[in-house]
Amino acid sequence: MKPGRLLLVCLIVTVFAGPALAADNAKCLMCHGAPGLSKRLPDGSVISLHIDDQAFRQSVHGARLCTDCHIDMRGQTFPHKRSAVPVKCSGCHFMGNPMGAPNIGPMTEYADSVHGRAVKRGDKDAPRCKNCHGEHDIRAHTDPRSSIYRANIPDTCGKCHSDAGMARKHKIPVKRPYQLYEKSVHGKAVSGQGLIAAAVCTDCHGGHTIKAAADPMSTVNKKHIPGTCGRCHKKILEEYKKSIHGRAVAQGVKDAPVCTNCHGEHGIERPTEPGSSVYPTHVVATCSKCHESAGVQKRFGLPAHRLKTYIGSYHGVANKFGETTVANCATCHGSHGILPSSDPHSMTNKRNLPRTCGKCHPGAGENFAKGSVHLEPSEKRDKGVYWVRIFYTVFIVGLIGSFALYILLDIFSRVRKRGGRAR
Ligand code: HEC
Ligand code: HEC
Ligand code: HEC
Ligand code: HEC
Ligand code: HEC
Ligand code: HEC
Ligand code: HEC
Ligand code: HEC
Ligand code: HEC
Ligand code: HEC
Ligand code: HEC
Repeated sequence: MKPGRLLLVCLIVTVFAGPALAADNAKCLMCHGAPGLSKRLPDGSVISLHIDDQAFRQSVHGARLCTDCHIDMRGQTFPHKRSAVPVKCSGCHFMGNPMGAPNIGPMTEYADSVHGRAVKRGDKDAPRCKNCHGEHDIRAHTDPRSSIYRANIPDTCGKCHSDAGMARKHKIPVKRPYQLYEKSVHGKAVSGQGLIAAAVCTDCHGGHTIKAAADPMSTVNKKHIPGTCGRCHKKILEEYKKSIHGRAVAQGVKDAPVCTNCHGEHGIERPTEPGSSVYPTHVVATCSKCHESAGVQKRFGLPAHRLKTYIGSYHGVANKFGETTVANCATCHGSHGILPSSDPHSMTNKRNLPRTCGKCHPGAGENFAKGSVHLEPSEKRDKGVYWVRIFYTVFIVGLIGSFALYILLDIFSRVRKRGGRAR
């Protein structure tokens, strides 16, 4: 027999001659490589059992045996028994494994995450490894075709977190973070411009370590939010940490704002976008959420009527009518470095007011700023202003009153004169 033919016979024998050991991938693919191979489930639905050989070979596990993962298929004869053992990624991805399977915590961290715990409880909706990574087409996070490549992560999480029904069922407070995120400055930068340095879900939440926001260990727990955003927005974090708000949060004051109280979470927009919570005409409402709260004012001894006095000012009226060039809370107080006016570094400290007002009122001197902000004078405080105002009011009322009286008298005398003539 010619050597070629011998080889062919051997092949045929090994493959078809009776029960043969399921040893390598080619054998499995004889059946599973056929695009039509499928199976009908008891509920009538049909699932594909086709494995795309090429996609598998290009995956990170392309050099693995099918039976490395499907361990119950080892030594099976064909047709094989139903596969009963679910694939365990932990068979290789454990700390110090000899295969060199990377493991920066996926196994240990995942188990303790909100998803891992839900899976342990038997929750069918929570993601197992394969829901985020795939099965036979798993690729490294550096590969643009991977489900965990930065630009693809929002879609990977969004498979589940775009479904409000799922969120309601699991009592997740944020119903559709995916849709909000896609329209945010971060989402548009990533999907629109391919700027993968902008934040994706896992930058704020972690990948395998994800925890509910209420969990003190969560990266999105109020206490940790400044650090989470500040990993990328470093300069702003530095400024914020020194502010009255930043210091209060560091001391555990729950009423003080972190980044997301002013900017939102998933829907963050540029301050120049009219929809942004920090757009010039929206800043007033954003600060007032807290500063108009009687509880906050009382707890921290803060002065009241900031909003009322602002709205009563020239700036406030113009701002209300959509004028973006006038002063709002943040143009006078700052945004990230806000300090009480008693602090010499504060933008609203008396010494610094000429500079603060001078940004828009060139040549504003010390007198310009005096007594003209948040003014609600009383007899005790701002005595001068109080009496000047009283005088002003009496004077103006008197002036207008005498003017009106004058006109009345004039009309009266004219009528009388006319009446006299008619007689
Ligand atoms: C002779 C054809 C054939 C060969 C060779 C074969 N399979 Fe299968 N495989 C099937 C069929 C048919 C089913 C569906 C069985 C059923 O109806 O439950 C199946 C089912 C499976 C399933 C379970 C799918 C599920 O959800 O029930 C796995 C996993 C599997 N095969 C893996 C392998 C592996 C690994 C190999 C190689 C070691 C292999 N198969 C070789 C025909 C084959
Ligand atoms: C890195 C591990 C891994 C390798 C290697 C692997 N599989 Fe799978 N396979 C999975 C996972 C995960 C599932 C999903 C079912 C589960 O979780 O047990 C699966 C499911 C399947 C199924 C059921 C249908 C489906 O797509 O869900 C078949 C058939 C199958 N594998 C065949 C193969 C064949 C044939 C090979 C070799 C060419 C192979 N697998 C290699 C991990 C692997
Ligand atoms: C909720 C989605 C999700 C789940 C569930 C998940 N992963 Fe990941 N995984 C990711 C993301 C996203 C990355 C990319 C790195 C990152 O951002 O943390 C990643 C990275 C990895 C890496 C690469 C780590 C490295 O350092 O190169 C491995 C390995 C991995 N995951 C394995 C697993 C295993 C095993 C499981 C199941 C125990 C699992 N993952 C569950 C989302 C997930
Ligand atoms: C048989 C051992 C084995 C099993 C089982 C296994 N892996 Fe892997 N995995 C590896 C090895 C080895 C590598 C490294 C491949 C390389 O870098 O060439 C790897 C790489 C990876 C990577 C790429 C990491 C990166 O650089 O971003 C991910 C993701 C991954 N595996 C996820 C999984 C998931 C999910 C499962 C379960 C469905 C799984 N693995 C099951 C051995 C395994
Ligand atoms: C397969 C669906 C699925 C995928 C994919 C998924 N999740 Fe989840 N996620 C869930 C379910 C279900 C829960 C609720 C778990 C529970 O009941 O405790 C959850 C919970 C959460 C929570 C905590 C919510 C709360 O209040 O309990 C966060 C945060 C979260 N997921 C973020 C992510 C991120 C980020 C990704 C992508 C890296 C992701 N998820 C991928 C299904 C998914
Ligand atoms: C820029 C940071 C950031 C990005 C990007 C981000 N999130 Fe969030 N996410 C947060 C913060 C902060 C919270 C906490 C909100 C709160 O305290 O009410 C949160 C809350 C959540 C919750 C509810 C958790 C809970 O326990 O209340 C889910 C689910 C969630 N995010 C999913 C996602 C998904 C999915 C993506 C990607 C599409 C994503 N997030 C992108 C910062 C982010
Ligand atoms: C992974 C890094 C990263 C994280 C984490 C991150 N950001 Fe960003 N952010 C960026 C990048 C990059 C841009 C610029 C996008 C662009 O210009 O298109 C940006 C843009 C912004 C903008 C608009 C800036 C402008 O000039 O208009 C705001 C506001 C913002 N981020 C707030 C936040 C907040 C609040 C958090 C935390 C909840 C956060 N970011 C977390 C990277 C990040
Ligand atoms: C008290 C409210 C408030 C808090 C807290 C806050 N911001 Fe801002 N932020 C603003 C306002 C108002 C603007 C727009 C005016 C400006 O640019 O200063 C702004 C602008 C920005 C911008 C775009 C403009 C720029 O300077 O690059 C980024 C990015 C930003 N904030 C990130 C953050 C981050 C990160 C944190 C948390 C460490 C944070 N902010 C905390 C109110 C706040
Ligand atoms: C989430 C609620 C919250 C938001 C939003 C908020 N603040 Fe505050 N702010 C506080 C609390 C609470 C304090 C008191 C902190 C302390 O004394 O420990 C404070 C303190 C201050 C102080 C110092 C008061 C003093 O006399 O010590 C100024 C000024 C201030 N905020 C201005 C602003 C401005 C301007 C904005 C909008 C850009 C803003 N705040 C947004 C809660 C908030
Ligand atoms: C035109 C500049 C300007 C605008 C606009 C402005 N403030 Fe002020 N604010 C000041 C100055 C100056 C002081 C200190 C003197 C005083 O109390 O009148 C001050 C005082 C305060 C204080 C008392 C704590 C302290 O530092 O003395 C709070 C709280 C405050 N402002 C909040 C707000 C809020 C909230 C808004 C928006 C509704 C706002 N301010 C708008 C200039 C401004
Ligand atoms: C962000 C820019 C901006 C800042 C900062 C600012 N203003 Fe104004 N202010 C305006 C604009 C614009 C007008 C409209 C009239 C104009 O153009 O002079 C105005 C009008 C006024 C008016 C009434 C009209 C007039 O010109 O007499 C007074 C009073 C005033 N500002 C006082 C102040 C004081 C005091 C400060 C500092 C505590 C201040 N402003 C900070 C932009 C600003």
